[in-house]
Amino acid sequence: MILAGSLLLLFLSDGVNSQRNCTYQDVLDHLNLTRHNERYFMTRPVKDYKRHTEVHLEVLLYAILDVVEKEQKFIPYVWSVMRWHNDYISWNPSQFCGIDNVSLPTEILWKPDLTIEEMTEKDKAPPSPYLTINNEGDVEVQNDLVLVSTCRMHIYKFPFDIQSCNLSFKSVIYTAKDIRLLASDNSSEATEWSREVMRTQYEWLFINMKVTTINASDLLSQDIIVYTINMKRRSALYIVNFILPILFFLCLDMASFLISDSSGEKLSFQVTVLLAITVLQLILNDILPSSSNSIPLIAIYCIGIFALMMLSLLETILMMYLTEKDNMQHDDETDKDQRFSGDCNRQGRVNFDNFHAEMQDWTENGCIYNVAAETPAELQSMAIEHNSSTRLVGESHVLEKVSAELREMEKTLTLLLGNRKVDYKSGYWTRVAKRVNKVFFISYVIMVSVFLTVLFLKWNYA
Ligand SMILES: *[C@@H]1O[C@H](CO)[C@@H](O)[C@H](O)[C@H]1NC(C)=O
Ligand SMILES: *[C@@H]1O[C@H](CO)[C@@H](O)[C@H](O)[C@H]1NC(C)=O
Ligand SMILES: *[C@@H]1O[C@H](CO)[C@@H](O)[C@H](O)[C@H]1NC(C)=O
Ligand SMILES: *[C@@H]1O[C@H](CO)[C@@H](O)[C@H](O)[C@H]1NC(C)=O
Ligand SMILES: *[C@@H]1O[C@H](CO)[C@@H](O)[C@H](O)[C@H]1NC(C)=O
Ligand SMILES: *[C@@H]1O[C@H](CO)[C@@H](O)[C@H](O)[C@H]1NC(C)=O
Repeated sequence: MILAGSLLLLFLSDGVNSQRNCTYQDVLDHLNLTRHNERYFMTRPVKDYKRHTEVHLEVLLYAILDVVEKEQKFIPYVWSVMRWHNDYISWNPSQFCGIDNVSLPTEILWKPDLTIEEMTEKDKAPPSPYLTINNEGDVEVQNDLVLVSTCRMHIYKFPFDIQSCNLSFKSVIYTAKDIRLLASDNSSEATEWSREVMRTQYEWLFINMKVTTINASDLLSQDIIVYTINMKRRSALYIVNFILPILFFLCLDMASFLISDSSGEKLSFQVTVLLAITVLQLILNDILPSSSNSIPLIAIYCIGIFALMMLSLLETILMMYLTEKDNMQHDDETDKDQRFSGDCNRQGRVNFDNFHAEMQDWTENGCIYNVAAETPAELQSMAIEHNSSTRLVGESHVLEKVSAELREMEKTLTLLLGNRKVDYKSGYWTRVAKRVNKVFFISYVIMVSVFLTVLFLKWNYA
């Protein structure tokens, strides 16, 4: 009997428990919310169709995963919350053990069909499987989205650029008559909270997130909420890997003015440096999109320095040409010398009488005295010795012999000393070349400094 009584008690208490409605299923039973109740998932849940549904949207930026300038692609990781009201849902928590919210599979309730205009690929991550309802009929859906979106990048100031990318949320089919969009956060809140939850920013520095609500002008258009994400590129790596090397190459190019013009080394050195710039230009081509209207400053920087280096290369070639010309002229003069050696000797004889008058001819004919003046002291003294001897003897054929000998010596000397001999002898064109070189170097330095100053000013302030 006692056992039966206790069993009855247990049964009764069970009955009381079931009457207390403490499970989530009791709430759903109360609402008659099942997978098959069409009232909940077929149509917009309003008791009067003239009433619109207000959708509150909150978007936070979790991470900036990738920004592809070349493809104008922006891939953020965002966290979005949508809240709206369902007129059919309501219960009294005190009747259900104080249950005030229930989580449900998302597909059994109607949801606003919000989309992002800029999205180019469907989100691969599966949407959150649950939503939450509360006793007042508010429904909330949270979602994490990896968005592959288009974003028009302005790379004019690359790598010191600031990009702003839009994420525009709007309904696909519902007009303002049915759905009004409201942003839960204002810009400062969205920025602050995004900054708090931000995990990774790739090569970017998140500046802020601006929230703009575009209200529909009439009931047939749609509300749009635009989240504008502003971010700044971390340029340190680009400076180290790109801008500085080019600058160093420019310095090398300037330093090459210290290399002697006559040897081919300067030319090959400058060509090498020029080629190095070309390599960097190729890398740049991989980064920047070809669709930009204005040429990016970094491309101007590259091509400008390339042009400057090319100019200095051309100048080197000119220098070499001029020096070569001098050489050839000298060879011509040597030939002329041979032809007019008689004249030379005559002049040699009279040069003490009217030195000044004959000076002009002397240099023009380039006879051996001129040469002797430039040759080493040993040779010079020899020439003088020969001179005096010829004057003493006064016989032109002897002098001819001597001068031929001298020329022979000079030739062997030229061969021995190689190209350095050319430096040593500064003919007319070599002197011109030297002057041009000096003037060019000064104007080159000025051009480089003006170019770099203007460019860096533009980079910073334009
Ligand atoms: C439990 O729910 C049923 C049906 O919804 C209701 O009749 C009953 O009063 C509820 N019980 C309590 C204790 O609130
Ligand atoms: C609950 O919904 C089902 C399916 O729509 C329907 O057949 C049933 O009558 C509803 N029950 C109540 C109490 O509304
Ligand atoms: C949902 O209910 C649980 C327990 O009743 C409570 O702890 C939680 O804060 C509620 N959540 C919301 C969003 O109201
Ligand atoms: C982003 O949205 C703002 C506000 O609507 C607009 O002014 C701006 O032009 C948009 N930017 C882009 C890149 O579409
Ligand atoms: C944003 O909202 C917060 C709190 O609601 C408020 O204190 C702040 O002034 C608002 N900022 C702007 C720019 O409206
Ligand atoms: C859009 O409408 C909401 C209320 O419906 C209002 O709070 C908001 O200021 C409006 N925005 C603009 C830009 O007019």
